[in-house]
Amino acid sequence: MNIVHVVGTGTIGEPLIGLLADLKNELGIDEVTFYKHSPVLTDRAKVKGLIKRGANIAVAKEKMQEFRELGIEPMYEAEEAIARASVVIDCTPKKIGLQNKERYYKKYEDKVKGFLAQGSEFGFGKPYALGINDDAITKEDKYIHIVSCNTHNIAVAIKSIGFVNGEKNDFVSGRFVCIRRATDISQESDFIPAPYVDEHKDKKFGTHHARDVWHLYNTLGYDLDVYSSSLKINTQYMHSIWFDIKVKDKIDEEEVLERFTSNPRVAITYKKLSSLVFSFGRDHGHYGRILNQTVVVVPTIRVRNDNEVFGFCFTPQDGNSLLSSVAATLRILYPEKEEWDERMKALQPFLFDEV
Ligand SMILES: NC(=O)c1ccc[n+]([C@@H]2O[C@H](COP(=O)([O-])OP(=O)(O)OC[C@H]3O[C@@H](n4cnc5c(N)ncnc54)[C@H](OP(=O)(O)O)[C@@H]3O)[C@@H](O)[C@H]2O)c1
Repeated sequence: MNIVHVVGTGTIGEPLIGLLADLKNELGIDEVTFYKHSPVLTDRAKVKGLIKRGANIAVAKEKMQEFRELGIEPMYEAEEAIARASVVIDCTPKKIGLQNKERYYKKYEDKVKGFLAQGSEFGFGKPYALGINDDAITKEDKYIHIVSCNTHNIAVAIKSIGFVNGEKNDFVSGRFVCIRRATDISQESDFIPAPYVDEHKDKKFGTHHARDVWHLYNTLGYDLDVYSSSLKINTQYMHSIWFDIKVKDKIDEEEVLERFTSNPRVAITYKKLSSLVFSFGRDHGHYGRILNQTVVVVPTIRVRNDNEVFGFCFTPQDGNSLLSSVAATLRILYPEKEEWDERMKALQPFLFDEV
């Protein structure tokens, strides 16, 4: 029996549980379960909605009564849900995933086939992004770290421009500025009154985005020259990334566009306002989300000195992390490439060539 258990129902957990539950037959999953941490009235509708879509709830033993008082009947106790799962996907905030690994997941390593954690959990396991380092993931990888949404975006820009035909035959260096939305529309706190710039805490890479992308490519043995900066701006719609990628051979804007469009996980757009790209997702995505790894803004692409590519792209909120989370889950459940690849076709309707 293939059981996928998601820990956390926040910005990434909620859509992931919904996506897995909606597509469970096509994905070859028998049961989707999820752990809800806080028994709060304002989350009751969300929890009931997920249960209605076919996912089963687990809560901490000591909170069962509080959930019942809210009219929610827990199906499993928290650790029981981990123990009976085939794959556990941790979607909790910074550092909690690492704590959960020590406190709970290690106990059930013999029963559970694999554990995944999201962007903030650097060090949880081997970093992974679909289409970037598939060859680095093996059947022995019990713990997988799905890299953050902006790391996905940077990684796919490097892959499209610098790795022609999958080889590192053209990439020289990459510089990136991640212009991050302050909060997701699902979040009620942490909004900021004005742009807030981040320190370059990492001497070699600037911010964690380039560091994470370096580690992602390093799983394949590459040592990339990458550096990133980041800032938050007071918007809730998408992240935007400015890139400057140097390549060895001569390149022109037509070739850049050709390289981007030939990547099946890249969408292009002629829209320059990120809210319009976000809004496209509302009408054509899965519950508002498109699953592309990046949306490249065509009118911003420029080439300088025949070898330096500049442009902007938008990060599809959290869609790329959802895509890689499903891919990593299927790889654990169905290790044969033909089979997990085939099952991934269920997500194809939410990947677009153009937005
Ligand atoms: N937000 C994004 O767009 C995005 C994109 C890519 C990756 N990520 C990554 O995804 C992860 C989660 O981020 P998020 O934005 O989804 O966070 P979030 O919206 O704050 O949600 C966190 C969830 O974790 C639960 N939780 C909190 N403390 C917990 C604990 N001690 N034990 C178990 N569950 C606990 C919360 O439950 P209650 O609400 O019930 O308390 C909530 O459901 C992070 O690693 C982040 O870097 C986020």
